Amino acid sequence: MNNYLLTPGPTPVPPEALEAMARPIIHHRTPQFQAILKEVEEGLRHIFRTKAPVLIFSSSGTGAMEGAIASLLSPGDKAIVVRGGKFGERWGELCTAYGIEFIPIDIEWGRSVDPKDIERILKEGGSGIKAVYTTLCETSTGVATDIEAIAKITKDTQAVLVVDAISALGAVPLKTDKWGIDVVVAGSQKGLMSPPGLAFVSLSRKALDMAERSRLPKYYFDFVKHKKSIEKNDTPYTPAVNLIIGIREALRLIKEEGLENVLNKHKRHARAVRRAMGALGLKLFAPDTYSDAVTAVRVPEGIDGARLVKTMRDNYGIAIAGGQARLKGRIFRIATMGYITADDLKKGIETLETVLAEMGYKFEKGSGVKAFEETLR
Ligand SMILES: Cc1ncc(COP(=O)(O)O)c(C=O)c1O
Repeated sequence: MNNYLLTPGPTPVPPEALEAMARPIIHHRTPQFQAILKEVEEGLRHIFRTKAPVLIFSSSGTGAMEGAIASLLSPGDKAIVVRGGKFGERWGELCTAYGIEFIPIDIEWGRSVDPKDIERILKEGGSGIKAVYTTLCETSTGVATDIEAIAKITKDTQAVLVVDAISALGAVPLKTDKWGIDVVVAGSQKGLMSPPGLAFVSLSRKALDMAERSRLPKYYFDFVKHKKSIEKNDTPYTPAVNLIIGIREALRLIKEEGLENVLNKHKRHARAVRRAMGALGLKLFAPDTYSDAVTAVRVPEGIDGARLVKTMRDNYGIAIAGGQARLKGRIFRIATMGYITADDLKKGIETLETVLAEMGYKFEKGSGVKAFEETLR
């Protein structure tokens, strides 16, 4: 049985990257590895759309999120945290872990934050608010945030804008420098067609100044230390050598295809998936503010959502994601990012139809696949 990964991370890895990672390991304190690291950092800057340094951590994305608290803030600083799903909530949990008082903006799950709320709280909160923590693509709900509008608000304040783009980078448009985002956090296992295990952070001048003054305790995720190293094509500690060698290939492939083409492809795929769901009579969880990286779909009445996901995976080899936290069993999610192809998605929709039919859901058989194909045509 083939295994199709249609989950919003990890995503499939192209053979070129798999092959590169299987080569014999090389030492990291060598000119050979430094040249690779340099190419990877340049490739990342291209995708981040930034001239600023991009730090490379050997951790999952959450490690870099933790760094974006510990490395930027100081005791007594306040933050704004946008919470519209599990990953927005994580920003709040991280603030709490470091004793940072935060003002939450709680959004109904499935909706997107109104940038005006951030503007108002920043004005009311005065100079004590040092950071605004947001999520570009809230993977748990499939919602996209208008980061460009938020950046316009934070730009001329003392607060840095921190964006969790872990599931967004390489999947949806993100213009770090043009929009004026201070810190973008990303991960290897989603839009960047690589295995889990690497996290990335871009730092604006404003964020770097803040990091240099930061007094929260930190060690591994010290942004200033990592920045000094990456400028010398180095890392402070032993990096995940083979993952970095692998992502070099993935970044080359993205560059070859062209970033705009890649983003347009995901957009087309996401649109076709949404149309397919509509044709099957299924409702989107985020009908207005959807992200093109992942589509969240409501499980229809009378269908066991957890069993649907399990049956697709165990009986048919198609991995889609279920709902997380309070959405467990209520939604399923299909990713359109990274190395997920139109053929993979078609197979996924075909199988979704098969399993829904087995479970007694009534719909016109074949209508989902037909809508998917017609939209792509
Ligand atoms: C938006 C977002 N933030 C944070 C994370 C956590 O990243 P990781 O599991 O790599 O630590 C994820 C992973 O699913 C995510 O999608």
